[in-house]
Amino acid sequence: MNVKVIATSSSLGLAARLSTLLGCSMIAVDEKVFPDGEKYVRVPHRLEGSTVVLVHSLYQPQDERFLQLLLAIDAAKGAGAKHVIVVVPYVAYARQDKRFLEGEPISVKVIFKAIEAAGADALITVDLHRPSSLDEWLEIPHANVIPIEALIGYFRGRLSNPVVLAPDRGALHRAQLAAQLLGAQYDYLEKVRDRVTGEVKVVPKSLDVRGGDVLIVDDIISTGGTIAAASKSVLTEGARNVYAACTHALLVSGALDRLYAAGVREVVATDTVPSPVSKVSVAESLAKAVNEMLTALSL
Ligand code: R5P
Repeated sequence: MNVKVIATSSSLGLAARLSTLLGCSMIAVDEKVFPDGEKYVRVPHRLEGSTVVLVHSLYQPQDERFLQLLLAIDAAKGAGAKHVIVVVPYVAYARQDKRFLEGEPISVKVIFKAIEAAGADALITVDLHRPSSLDEWLEIPHANVIPIEALIGYFRGRLSNPVVLAPDRGALHRAQLAAQLLGAQYDYLEKVRDRVTGEVKVVPKSLDVRGGDVLIVDDIISTGGTIAAASKSVLTEGARNVYAACTHALLVSGALDRLYAAGVREVVATDTVPSPVSKVSVAESLAKAVNEMLTALSL
């Protein structure tokens, strides 16, 4: 089968690991910016008849990267690719998945519709904020990878008397999966976020964490406000240590300092977004998802 991984600068390392696991070659796209600020990408090889796995993550600067992604999809098709399977390890705007306030857009819909319109034949995401957004807004085949085994594997044997916590009810499923893998108890906290200021408060809740190591698991750490509030809360309840695991470490505005100041002992994330705490890779989970997609598309 004629499969090639195409990588942009947003995900070179992850794309290289993926191409090794898939046993195919990798091509890095040429990228530049015109003097007026417009973006340029070029696939420097012909791709006649090939199936392309285009890997491009949408972390900051997310708007620029989004445009690069659309351009790269069109460039791959123009270079002769027969099928373009787009892998977006981190999908920006995925948290705006409904109109929370009147007059707001459904941003994730706009992102998905544009990827489809640019020529993607399939989309693979990683730990999308609400996976059902894919079914809601995409016509093309799609899959969402939950790399919980890789993430939780890091903590196996390192925690004593572990309890896994979701920082809000929406993240409970992820905490449940993590707890099963660790053979631990799990629970969730009640988070309240001010929709205008963004400030996070954790409602005090009686938890059986006394003397145990608490692992807080979430999809994203952005400012760190959510996990910092959760950490303070469980330390007050008598937890021995607090660890944090997330898939996407956006880590804006001194987030790591905020987390360590709130008593978090260690933060671990995947390589969907490169960061100082990206200690595990989603490459194996993605290779499995790409192979399944190739089979589903009869390629
Ligand atoms: C929100 O629902 C997400 O799942 C994360 O909990 C949130 O994005 C984390 O943001 P921050 O680190 O800024 O609190």
